This record gives sequence, C-alpha cells and structure tokens, in this order.
Amino acid sequence: MTIDRSTLSHFDRERASVFHSWSAQATLNPLMVRDTNGVYVTDEDGNTYLDFSSQLVNTNIGHQHPAVVKAIQDQAALLCTIAPQHGNIARIEAAEKILDHSFEGAAKVFFTNGGTEAVEHAVRMARLHTGRHKVMAQYRSYHGATATSINLTGDPRRWPSDTASAGVVHFFGPFLYRSVFHASNEQEECERALENLERTIQFEGPSTIAAIILESVPGTAGIMVPPAGFLQGVREICDRYGIVYIADEVMAGFGRTGSWFAYQQHGVTPDLVTFAKGVNSGYLPLGGVVINEAICETFANRVYPGGLTYSGHPLACASAVAAITAMEDEGMIENAKMIGETVLAPALHAMTEKHMLIGDVRGVGVFWALELVSDRATKEPLAPYGGTSPAMSELVAACRREGLLIFSNFNRIHVVPPCNITVDEVNEGLARLDRALSSISSAYFG
Ligand SMILES: Cc1ncc(COP(=O)(O)O)c(C=O)c1O
Repeated sequence: MTIDRSTLSHFDRERASVFHSWSAQATLNPLMVRDTNGVYVTDEDGNTYLDFSSQLVNTNIGHQHPAVVKAIQDQAALLCTIAPQHGNIARIEAAEKILDHSFEGAAKVFFTNGGTEAVEHAVRMARLHTGRHKVMAQYRSYHGATATSINLTGDPRRWPSDTASAGVVHFFGPFLYRSVFHASNEQEECERALENLERTIQFEGPSTIAAIILESVPGTAGIMVPPAGFLQGVREICDRYGIVYIADEVMAGFGRTGSWFAYQQHGVTPDLVTFAKGVNSGYLPLGGVVINEAICETFANRVYPGGLTYSGHPLACASAVAAITAMEDEGMIENAKMIGETVLAPALHAMTEKHMLIGDVRGVGVFWALELVSDRATKEPLAPYGGTSPAMSELVAACRREGLLIFSNFNRIHVVPPCNITVDEVNEGLARLDRALSSISSAYFG
C-alpha cells in the first residue's frame, strides 16, 4: 500500500515506520538529528547539544572526523564490498593495527559487524578450544543482545530472553559501594570476590567451564573499575583450571579508559578480546575478536564453524584504520587519560559536595558514573534496579533543556564524552550537568 507522506514531518514518519531498540514503542520521543560535528549534535530545529554520551559510548573520536570520513569515501570509490573469503588490504591493515595495540601473543583478528557477534564468536571459539560448555559472567554486566550474549548479560535486560541461562553461570564481581561481600575496603572486596569466584568454579565443576567473560571495566551496568589485583586474580584462576579468559572490551576498549585497552591498566593478558564501538567510533558497523596463538592453533587444521557475509567489510575496516591512525596521531589516548585525571575526577568529586543526590562517583579516563541516591545513609537508589523514576526522567529532560546529551541507566548517569574532548568542552558540559542536577535537588530525602 502506498501512503502519501508528503505532508508528514520527519518526526511523524519516524514514529510511523521505525521500530526502536529496548523500548515500548508508543512512549518514544526521539531527538531528530540533522547533523553532528566533533562533540556537538544538532537537531532538525537547529538546537545544538554537547555530547557527553558519545552516543552509545562509541564515538570515541567524536563526530565526523574528517580523516575517517575521507577514508570511507576513498574506500567506497575503490572497493565497497567483497566476500569474506577474499583478502583485501583494508582488512589486513585494520587487523595489523588492532594487533599492534594488543597484548603480547595476540595472533589474529576475526571481524564481525558489532559487539554482540564478537561475544558470540569468542564464546564459540572458547567452547571448541576447551571442549567444555559453560561460560561464567558477572552479575552487573552487559555483553550484547543476541542469543548467547544476552544470556551472559548480568542485568535486567537478560530477564525477558533468559533461556535458563543456557550454559551460563553468573557470579558477583567486586563493587564496593554496594558490596555483597560485606567488605569495608577495596582490598577486602577484591579478595572476597576472587574467593567467591573460585568456590563457584569448584562447585560448578572446573572441567565443565570453557570461559570466564569479563568487561575489563563493566560499562552500562555501572562503570565499576575493578580493584587492583582483581583481573590478575581472575587470570590466575583461569590458568589454574584451564579456563579461557575473554576480556570484553567492546565499551572499555580503544581509549575510553585512557589506554588502548582497559585490561592493559591491570597488567593482564587475556586469551580472547572482544571489541567494537571505539574501533572505528561506529562510523560503520564493526566489531571483532582478537585471538591468542593457542586458540588460533586449535583452528589451524580444524574448521572454525562460523562466519559472516560481512566479516571484515572493506568500508568498515578502512574506517577503523583511519580512526586508529587519528587516535595515534592526535594523542587521543593520552588526552582521555589527562581529562580523566585532571578535569573529570576532581570536578565530579567536587560535585558531591554540592549535590546530595550523588551517592558515588567512580570511573577512569573518559568513563565515569554518578550513582544517584535519595538518601546517602541508606543508599536508596533514585530509580529502582532495572527501572526508572520521575526524578531520573526529569534529570535527563533537564540535561536536554541545558543542551547536554547524557547516558542514563536506572539510577545512574554516565559522563562518557569522546576521548578527544577539550578541557573547555568538558567544563562547559559539567556546568550544564551541574544546573540540571540542581533542578532535581528536591528528590533528595536523606
Ligand atoms: C561490554 C559490551 N559488550 C557487548 C556489547 C554489544 O555490542 P553491540 O551493541 O555492538 O552488539 C556492548 C554494547 O553496549 C557492550 O557494552
């Protein structure tokens, strides 16, 4: 049936024809974006927003980086697409660049279209490599929205799709602010979380566990930077029981924490690393798995039973090469570290003096969470776990009115700007956030 849409606004056409992720469709009010540039997003009415969300925490180099736009244009003129069994120089260069920034012994890269497929394939590789089936993942984690990755996910997004967790065993990781281990400091939290993990493995049967998958810094679940020694402890446990250690760096990787990969700050060597988002700042869909030598060897003479029509798509790979090169040439990793240490850490901690609603501030690099509570003593969250509240909705609306795009989840807001944001831009964003927080101060009861 053909409909005359000529009189409809873009908004009405969007609402009529597009089905959105993670949403009740009738309740939506999407921002209609006209264009973007650097740290700014402009809507169709000409209003400009400072992007403190990096969209879905993926535009690590900001919007419309000219070198990446040009690389995509040049690649499009040369070779738009080719079947994955053929080689092409864009895919080779992307793999080499990713390996150059990876751990010692990182051997090859398998490319996917995004993060969830990277997780699916990393788990498949680990299962086939070990001949075991179970995979362990943390509560308070997110690993993607397809069959295996949603079952691995340790937050309420799993619940509607949970097929009795399909070979997944969840465990509590370290999170001192809401410690389930009754710990009073980071060291205790770390030791008890590791002890709990090892006990869980022993009771599950070590010989049944193929892999432990961990976000090196859990992202959407709350930006909980692991305490010193935790990831090393996980590595040791994996070695003890012959378990594959998968570092999920889909959100934490490519500069977000102020290093190329977050695991590097913890001195550990994973066996498999999943990546997406920041690899090319999402200019085209791309993800993948970095594979160590031993797992590559497993598939040297044995068929790897998996593939994708667009594994190593030339346009996406060309954009990754350009994005990584821009990050190298423009010192973006160093900038993210500097912004975290000298601007965001002091400013966000200072905000806790003024805004009683802020129960906890945590993060690293350009990866920060504010945990909002209505009472500091009881730590009552400003929205329930897995839900929202009028105060949280009002805060997001107030940010929007202030011209600030912010990432929010349950009772948290995340300050996750691009890695190349300037000090002035951060300070401008923080001033807008400060005003938005003031506008909901009456939600504090403590
Ligand atoms: C840690 C982590 N893993 C996996 C995914 C899934 O990635 P994608 O949405 O590209 O499928 C995400 C997405 O936010 C993520 O943060």
